Amino acid sequence: MKVVLSPMAGINDKSFRRLCLLMGADMVFTEMISVNGLISGNKKSFKMLPESEKRTVVQLFGNDPEYFSCALDLMRDRTNWVDLNAACPVPKVVKHGYGAALMRDPFLVRRIVEILSKKGIKVSVKIRMGWEKEKNFLDVARAASDGGAFLISIHGRTVEQGYSGSADWNSAKLLKENLKVKVGVSGDIFTAYDAVRAQEFTGADMVLIARGAIGNPWIFRAVKKISTGKEPTIVTLEERRDIFNRHLVETMEEHGIHGIIIFRKFLIAYLKGLPNSHDVKIEALQVKDVNFLRKMVNDYFDQLISCEQGGVKRGNVKG
Ligand SMILES: Cc1cc2nc3c(=O)[nH]c(=O)nc-3n(C[C@H](O)[C@H](O)[C@H](O)COP(=O)(O)O)c2cc1C
Repeated sequence: MKVVLSPMAGINDKSFRRLCLLMGADMVFTEMISVNGLISGNKKSFKMLPESEKRTVVQLFGNDPEYFSCALDLMRDRTNWVDLNAACPVPKVVKHGYGAALMRDPFLVRRIVEILSKKGIKVSVKIRMGWEKEKNFLDVARAASDGGAFLISIHGRTVEQGYSGSADWNSAKLLKENLKVKVGVSGDIFTAYDAVRAQEFTGADMVLIARGAIGNPWIFRAVKKISTGKEPTIVTLEERRDIFNRHLVETMEEHGIHGIIIFRKFLIAYLKGLPNSHDVKIEALQVKDVNFLRKMVNDYFDQLISCEQGGVKRGNVKG
């Protein structure tokens, strides 16, 4: 069973992708990258591309097949697998006809996939179930498959749903039953046990984990263990602290002083559920100096570890 880091804008930078690969993810997706941005030489868009990282899927968004073709020429040596975003429901993306707006036009999806496939690259598509009025995921997936896509990943929610309600894994099951392409299942996979259940229920070839990996990159390792019938390894406080430190250092190296802001969402997630972490979270979010932040969080972990060594078993999670 393949388990991968699902694309996440604003989250899947190089540091996080590297960490998830280290923790057992089979593949990682980039954030969605604009083909228009790549074509116009936008530095931010190029920065999101992998350098020579292996096992990294580049996710692109846009709606003009020719733009996709040109963008691919510009980044041909950076990856061997491109994923088309037909899933993003964010209004500012959809209103330009990008992301989930593509679900309204299966023929266009097919054309984009075709033009990319002809360039000899692996192409996949990420979709939603469709719009409330027309849950046409089977049609869109069929069009993508006809165009040459080898894998369709589906987040089992409609565009209007955003992230509300719960993900319907049945959509992935239907894709698997009705089409010959490989299928990825996404949505509400927050624990390693969810990942195994999703795979077993749908028969999917790939399980995509998004929010469940933030502050919990150990989830990939745990999926590997559980899916082979083993017990997941306990994530000790020491390991949690070490990964926190490593991730923070790499984020600062990647983004410079701005890294401390980018790291905030991970910081909160690394401390989530730990005893008495509320105050340290509030304080840590105000800190502007990275050395001070490191000391503060490390002192907090040291305190927890010494409590634990004093016989109080707390704060461990399975991962
Ligand atoms: C912060 C955030 C950013 C996301 N960005 C993207 C994106 O760039 N491209 C994409 O296809 N999906 C994106 N998604 C959707 C996820 O890949 C995934 O399909 C969705 O979150 C459901 O999975 P989960 O319940 O495991 O989080 C994003 C989700 C989140 C939470």
